[in-house]
Amino acid sequence: MTSINSPSLGSTHINGNRLLQRLDALAEIGSTGDGGCCRVALTDEDKAGRDLVVSWMHELDLDVVVDAIGNVFGTWNVGVGAPVMTGSHIDTVRTGGKFDGNYGVLAGLEVIETCKELSITPDRPLCVAIFTDEEGARFAPDMLGSLVYVGGLALEEALDIESIDGKRLGDELVRIGYAGAAPCPGPAPHAFVELHIEQGPVLEAEDRAFGAVTGVQGISWQELTIVGQSNHAGTTPMNLRRDPAFVAAMMTVYLRDIAERFGGDQVCTVGKVDLHPNLINVIPARATITLDVRNTDEDTLRDAEHLIDTFCFQIEQDEGVSITKRQLARFEPVTFDERVIALVERRAREVDTRVKRLPSGAGHDAQMLARFCPSAMIFVPSKDGISHNAREHTEPDQLVDGANVLLRVMLDLTEMEF
Ligand code: GLV
Ligand code: MN
Ligand code: MN
Repeated sequence: MTSINSPSLGSTHINGNRLLQRLDALAEIGSTGDGGCCRVALTDEDKAGRDLVVSWMHELDLDVVVDAIGNVFGTWNVGVGAPVMTGSHIDTVRTGGKFDGNYGVLAGLEVIETCKELSITPDRPLCVAIFTDEEGARFAPDMLGSLVYVGGLALEEALDIESIDGKRLGDELVRIGYAGAAPCPGPAPHAFVELHIEQGPVLEAEDRAFGAVTGVQGISWQELTIVGQSNHAGTTPMNLRRDPAFVAAMMTVYLRDIAERFGGDQVCTVGKVDLHPNLINVIPARATITLDVRNTDEDTLRDAEHLIDTFCFQIEQDEGVSITKRQLARFEPVTFDERVIALVERRAREVDTRVKRLPSGAGHDAQMLARFCPSAMIFVPSKDGISHNAREHTEPDQLVDGANVLLRVMLDLTEMEF
């Protein structure tokens, strides 16, 4: 690598204003008018967001490749060998903020632009990736694009996934013009590092500037369809009801009970409830609910899943309903590469000594890339720990500092042998 060597990049910095302006420009697409963003995977808004970021990749003269699951890779082909990759996602949940995912992609772009401007020539290519459908809120599972990229899910299977609005993933990819030609699984990068907002309260509460992320907790997503007997709300005695809404409520309470009993890292959420026919004076025929259950410990996560299975069986008997389960996502906890974690920790400390090692509560593309190459993540704090919400916020100087850590980590990774 020419110029700017370890251990310090001295006064070399990314262009903070440019990064912040790009974050604002991207947030305009799908803006919900309250500071939030709605660019759900493979919608027209997702396409418009992709088009904007791809136009920036072209302006930077990157080699832009789209693969068969719609992941976009912008590579600066300098040096030799497999690239050091960064990136994240630009799809959002329906109630998303400006930074979740977008920050990691645009900071990656900023790192490459900074190197080019300052004539820093790394020994390996640098690549910034936009992974398809990280959120999984429209097409489950989450981290879908990166999962297919690393070979964890067959392409054909992924293309056939149906969205919550009844569309086939492959058709939506073609519709928005992002069904690319590059094969999946794709080539393994030399290493991967993802910069992300924490999306939780820990860094802020402990007055830390950065997180060196040690891994990602395990995730279990299930959809339960509870079928009972629809009937008149006024005439049906309570003891003769087979009521899916009541069972959905019991399940929600039971999940809270599991989380309280297990304590520690156990979290459980019922995030989606659909009743049919959803009318004030009709006992529903059917309830469809989603369960999101996570833990950093695989055995404990399995225990929680086992308890839920047993409880389902029990309430089927007690309440006279039938329950059908569909697994929407299941990922074991992931531990990142110690060498990359230690590098993140060291480079972050050079910018601000207040660094904490911590696991991620949210899912991330880096947990999929970790199957493929040495990987880790950098976190910056989230105000009030709020995310998947229009109030998601990180201070501008924290965003800029995080990108400066990313710059240093990526350049170091070009020189590391694994
Ligand atoms: C993805 O953002 C997830 O953790 O649900
Ligand atoms: Mn994210
Ligand atoms: Mn998210």
